[in-house]
Amino acid sequence: MGIQITPSILNADPAALGAELARIGSADWVHVDVMDNHFVPNLTFGPAMVEALARSTDLPLDAHLMIDDADRNAAAYVEAGAGSVTFHVEAARAPVRLAREIRSAGARASMALRPATPVEPYEELLPELDMLLIMTVEPGFGGQTFLDLCLPKIRTARRLMERHGVQTWLQVDGGVSLETIERCAEAGADVFVAGSAVYSADDPDAMVAELRARAQAVSPPS
Ligand code: DX5
Ligand code: ZN
Repeated sequence: MGIQITPSILNADPAALGAELARIGSADWVHVDVMDNHFVPNLTFGPAMVEALARSTDLPLDAHLMIDDADRNAAAYVEAGAGSVTFHVEAARAPVRLAREIRSAGARASMALRPATPVEPYEELLPELDMLLIMTVEPGFGGQTFLDLCLPKIRTARRLMERHGVQTWLQVDGGVSLETIERCAEAGADVFVAGSAVYSADDPDAMVAELRARAQAVSPPS
């Protein structure tokens, strides 16, 4: 699939989200950060907002669920129109069942790891996943500093994917910018979430193109 750039609307103007989506036309996905004020200390969107966003853009939606009890709530985001739904393994009681439910409801199934959660225990789950998200900040807020300590885990995840021969996408989220995207691409990431880097730029779509070019310089399209 190659490099994909997925702007997060967390730091976009919440009163003008329709217009904000129109400013990232060349993105591959729109990343929607769902926070419940329990799993993370912040509160954002629910399924109704995801449904409204899906009506206002042709780009597919990538819902990142930072919520407790992902098992019971993830399906609502598929129904709301998300093309990819990511749950945190730390919040899932039955991650295999949950990934299968998301897939059978018609979305791509993705699992996220917080910075302190190792990837090795989940090696056998990779064939169940369309994407693995390695957080490169503690989830909860946009605009945080990229955590270099997560780079070895990205490398490990890429190695495990190669060992299992899976096509699972490897996403990074948190502090991804022109400064840090090459490090992530070198480590093996291929899907890049960028929030403040995109929406603090004068031209968000030009920033999407610049980020893509930086990552492709490290991993040229085959
Ligand atoms: C953080 C969210 C991220 C956030 C990224 O918990 O999951 O998606 O929006 O924002 P930046 O790119 O500013 O770190
Ligand atoms: Zn996110």
